[in-house]
Amino acid sequence: MMKLDTKHAFLKEDISSYQDIVTKCHEDLHNKTGKGNDYVGWVEWPNNYDKEEYARLKSVAADIRGKCDVLMVCGIGGSYLGARAAVEMINGMYSKEKPEIIFFGNTFSSTYIAQVLEYIKDKEVAVNVISKSGTTTETALAFRLLKQFMEDKYGKEEAAKRIVATTDKARGTLKTIADKEGYETFVIPDDVGGRYSVLTAVGLLPIAVSGSDIQKLMDGAAKAREALAVCDLEKNDCYRYAALRNILYRKGKAIEIMVSYEPAFTMMNEWYKQLFGESEGKDNKGIYPSSAIFSTDLHSMGQFIQEGSRILFETVVDIKKPQQDLYIEADPANFDGLNFLSQQNMSVVNQKAMQGTILAHTQGGVPNMVLELPEVNEEELGYLIYFFEKACALSGYLLAVNPFNQPGVESYKKNMFALLGKPGYEDQKEALEAQLR
Ligand code: PA5
Repeated sequence: MMKLDTKHAFLKEDISSYQDIVTKCHEDLHNKTGKGNDYVGWVEWPNNYDKEEYARLKSVAADIRGKCDVLMVCGIGGSYLGARAAVEMINGMYSKEKPEIIFFGNTFSSTYIAQVLEYIKDKEVAVNVISKSGTTTETALAFRLLKQFMEDKYGKEEAAKRIVATTDKARGTLKTIADKEGYETFVIPDDVGGRYSVLTAVGLLPIAVSGSDIQKLMDGAAKAREALAVCDLEKNDCYRYAALRNILYRKGKAIEIMVSYEPAFTMMNEWYKQLFGESEGKDNKGIYPSSAIFSTDLHSMGQFIQEGSRILFETVVDIKKPQQDLYIEADPANFDGLNFLSQQNMSVVNQKAMQGTILAHTQGGVPNMVLELPEVNEEELGYLIYFFEKACALSGYLLAVNPFNQPGVESYKKNMFALLGKPGYEDQKEALEAQLR
């Protein structure tokens, strides 16, 4: 499956000096003795997920596929990014696969919300509203509008049959609404936090509706669970990646750019950014996760990467076998002078661009790690997802932070609630308004 190549990472240190600390982090994670240990349910999840719920999920997904043009996935952060990343990576960005999956509930933008509601007006629609807490404002407000839309379009009874809620098993406003309205529900396990939840019903239902084989996804994750439980830096690429990130960070490389040469990886990059950003960025520490799609972004960020502040390192996801290829024919006239590219596959050009860029950037002082992915399919994706989740948890422990909480996210919410006059926040409203004047 996936492999890590570190020959362009400039690391002279003997990484084996990290083995003891990595062993301690591994034990903390597996024995549930580390920070945030109530949220490590995802570690064993590929083996012990609820098979009955999984079977019910597959049948609900088949039902939605059979009757709908559109599945509206209403969620934010960990309650949508993983699903969107998987769907786009497997199906591509302009898929004709039905139903179309539309992501909603992740913004307050009135323009976006209005445009989407207009777009789905005459289509057959199903809804999957996803929120672990059941109270996230972006999702709850969008769902209020969507629920009204569905009830106006189908009537209350039929709307209830078309709405599926994925949430906590017992708590939260969404659970209360779902029970009251009689929606089909799926559970987000207590011990799996939002950004580690893509392999639960949170991701699995939308991914199954998109036509992907979720059994293969779970099989890939199970393979990763087994392979990446070996606590040996020589044998475990995931732990090696986490340790190397830490070494680079200590050398002043405070920004990681996740790079892919496939535009369909764009949302995987977004998922990676949330996973690592929320997990590591705290206590005034952490590597800032950023992303790029090359060669596209070489024409925007390439200059900075090559010659700007030397605070960067890159992790390149090298997809060995493209999902599709094109043959470039020779043109006898050769007016564009491009015959030197002809009589070969387009993927070769992409590959040479990658190789040339890795060499240029490393020569420019940007260490590169390369994650080699044999091909894009559900099994490889399941492996990749688990790889990043585990690397992130281990990385967080190496940094001595809790990789499973996100206390900083509350600050904007408190101010927003005060400015909007939410009951309980009134006393801060005046002071905040004064600061805005
Ligand atoms: O990783 C996390 O916990 C967060 O990003 C959440 O996924 C996000 O805030 C959405 O929360 P919820 O699912 O409770 O609506």
